[in-house]
Amino acid sequence: MHVLVTGGAGFIGSHLIDALLRRGDSVVVVDDFSSGSRDNLPAHQLLRTIEFQLGKEVPDDLGPKPIDAIVHLAGSPSVALSWQDPVEAHDRTLTTTVSLLHLVRRLNIPRFIFASSAAVYGPPAALPITEEMPCHPSSPYGLQKLVGEKYVELFAGEVGFSAVVLRLFNVFGPRQAPSSPYSGVISKFVEAFRFRRPITVFGDGLQTRDLIYVADVVAYICSALDLSIEPGETLRFNIGTGSRRSLLEIIAILQKRFADKTVVFYEPARAGDILHSQSDNSAAMRDLGISPIYSLEQGLDSLLDSYEPGNVTS
Ligand code: UD1
Repeated sequence: MHVLVTGGAGFIGSHLIDALLRRGDSVVVVDDFSSGSRDNLPAHQLLRTIEFQLGKEVPDDLGPKPIDAIVHLAGSPSVALSWQDPVEAHDRTLTTTVSLLHLVRRLNIPRFIFASSAAVYGPPAALPITEEMPCHPSSPYGLQKLVGEKYVELFAGEVGFSAVVLRLFNVFGPRQAPSSPYSGVISKFVEAFRFRRPITVFGDGLQTRDLIYVADVVAYICSALDLSIEPGETLRFNIGTGSRRSLLEIIAILQKRFADKTVVFYEPARAGDILHSQSDNSAAMRDLGISPIYSLEQGLDSLLDSYEPGNVTS
């Protein structure tokens, strides 16, 4: 397969690139390198990289080989940032999606995989969250993803390509940058433990998330690429583990793993933060044919193993 991956130099994207190259697929990475890094990408003869600015038209000239599928991961990375600068987030997340769909139409690309988010649901009416539950996003980010999904469905039906929308829950793993104030909670907590810094818990720490390890997400994306779907059809899946764990549980696991107690500061809950999140992932397991392999503990072990030895006690 010849696959175009937007955001391919980022956290999830770069793991996907590794997996695609391992499968023998050839890849075009399209990235603006604002949060992703060239260091995340291997030197490989089947890999080509194109730099482009999110929110602008993607050029037609993507090389001589026809593209079999697009995996669209690029976008503004954070709920909080989408409140800080909703116009910029809109361009980076939604305008980029529309410009890619326009490209799919121009180049007749048969498959589009869209990385959406559990943020489309907003505060859940019940747990676990099924794909059929109503979507009331509580952030510009969630709304931009939801409208992106609608664009995908509209273009797929009109143009005749097949599409898969993956609503990602809380993804963690190596290469998730902990540096921004809006980085994922696990990347921030692990960084704090590694460098013996205090951690900050927003709220009481009893909030829960469905935390899925990046390798499991990549496996789902690969099966979405291979899935047999009618032209014009859009399928939608929750991508999570089907379970939820609290921040206090994450801290307890890390304390044990590092044999260290870190200082915990408590601050008021973030505006718009939801309390609990848990996917019903039965549709993904049934139709994409795989189940998540990593428990939270196994994912954390694998993440910690990816660092230099010596930082972690085992
Ligand atoms: C995450 C994703 C978002 C995705 C959504 C899907 C990240 C950065 N964000 O949002 O892209 O669409 O899931 O549901 O991965 N927290 C602390 N201390 C910290 C950092 C976070 O207490 O230092 C808390 C937050 O307030 C929140 C929880 O941890 O209650 C999880 O936060 P975070 O990892 O930022 O993810 P979400 O907001 O759930």
